[in-house]
Amino acid sequence: MENEVLSIVDKRTGKTYEIPITNGTIRAMDLRKIKTGPDDFGLMTYDPAFMNTASCQSAITFIDGDKGILRYRGYPIDQLAEKCSFLEVAYLVLTGELPTAAQLKDFVTHITYHTMLHETTKHFLEGFRYNAHPMGMFISTVAALSTVYPEAKNVHDPEVRKLQIYRLIGKVPTIAAYTYRHSLGFPYVYPDNDLSYAENFLNMLWKMVEPKYQANPALARALDILFILHADHEQNCSANAMRAVGSSQADPFVSVAAAAAALSGPLHGGANEEVLKMLDEIGSKENIPAYIERVKAGQVKLMGFGHRIYKNYDPRARIIKQAADQVFEVTGKNPKLEIALELERIALQDEYFIKRKLYPNVDFYSGIIYQAMGFKPEIFTVLFAIPRTAGWLAQWQEMLCDPEQKIARPRQIFTGHDVRDFVPIEKRGVREFPAAA
Ligand SMILES: CC(C)(COP(=O)(O)OP(=O)(O)OC[C@H]1O[C@@H](n2cnc3c(N)ncnc32)[C@H](O)[C@@H]1OP(=O)(O)O)[C@@H](O)C(=O)NCCC(=O)NCCS
Repeated sequence: MENEVLSIVDKRTGKTYEIPITNGTIRAMDLRKIKTGPDDFGLMTYDPAFMNTASCQSAITFIDGDKGILRYRGYPIDQLAEKCSFLEVAYLVLTGELPTAAQLKDFVTHITYHTMLHETTKHFLEGFRYNAHPMGMFISTVAALSTVYPEAKNVHDPEVRKLQIYRLIGKVPTIAAYTYRHSLGFPYVYPDNDLSYAENFLNMLWKMVEPKYQANPALARALDILFILHADHEQNCSANAMRAVGSSQADPFVSVAAAAAALSGPLHGGANEEVLKMLDEIGSKENIPAYIERVKAGQVKLMGFGHRIYKNYDPRARIIKQAADQVFEVTGKNPKLEIALELERIALQDEYFIKRKLYPNVDFYSGIIYQAMGFKPEIFTVLFAIPRTAGWLAQWQEMLCDPEQKIARPRQIFTGHDVRDFVPIEKRGVREFPAAA
């Protein structure tokens, strides 16, 4: 459209610039021509934490944070959670379309074929300290797969990419289960290819001496739903890490490890573990008002609340609350649920949370379900990483196939010293070691 143009008057020079607007966005590179003279580099934008910068065009996941909408490839998350299996959704996220029955069968066969870990990778896992955090083991082991599959570095070969995608989606549950068994001191259980993706994962976690492990169908389905809800979430911190590391043409194993490292932080996927710690600290409903006061005084954060994009109820949290009922029918209620529900009720009436549009996010309830299913909080973030691997790979593939993308390399505003002369060590005097840069 003709009027989709931004006119900028540079008062330094009096010049006017016409910058095209497409999809409500101007291109940062169009600002570069705004200069005071030939030696001027040109105008840049400054956007710490990417608060208002689109780093890519993507057709994978749509979020409307104000309306609380989440769609994968156009399909509303609630419909996918109700009607699909996780692998069906992974196929959708990766390829853009829901699979036919034959395509799904083929995809499931490929994923199942790649669930085994090389024995050396198993030995690698055995080398971790007995109390190593499962997320640290997960990140390192995914990275170590890069050494097992050196051909993965051929990232521009679509067939090579496809094989690594099968391998990663197939192997992440196996690695996750092994990290857990390691922390318990139990022997590893090999994958069982007769089972569904979620059932096989539960089998590798819980099987002891029985010849065939039978997962409770309600729990396997609840886990599958949780996997669907976590499959992708557009340009979050870990997806951005995946794209940034992948943009250097690093192989997908080390790129997924980088994304998983980003996920491990308490402000991202690590929040579900923190929610459980917080509920433990609160202990009972009577202590909630005092805890809320501490949150409002800025002493602590209400973990599992707030989101960069959602300024409304996170739609995933709503679906998780429903899935929780099905889990609790099998496991009995997690007593922490009562505290969480009351915490949510009080917070949502409080001016502090209303004003800042802080609502429960996906992590607020997921941990309570995981704990009821028998998982220890240390593995919660690993449970997030398993399905998110599909999303990371979809983002990675989209990035590699986008002709506009190059190695990701932001600019900076340099605020350090101007040039100064070297000072010999004996003339430097006594100085405190700087606490921060
Ligand atoms: C997710 C999160 C990192 C988003 O951060 P963000 O977009 O940078 O938002 P901000 O930190 O600018 O928060 C805006 C305001 O709300 C407050 N706020 C945000 N999340 C809060 C929380 N969980 N508890 C208490 N206050 C919170 C901030 O202190 C800030 O208040 P101010 O305006 O008075 O300074 C943040 O909400 C958070 O840390 N939540 C807890 C961790 C969590 O659950 N993460 C999982 C995300 S799925």
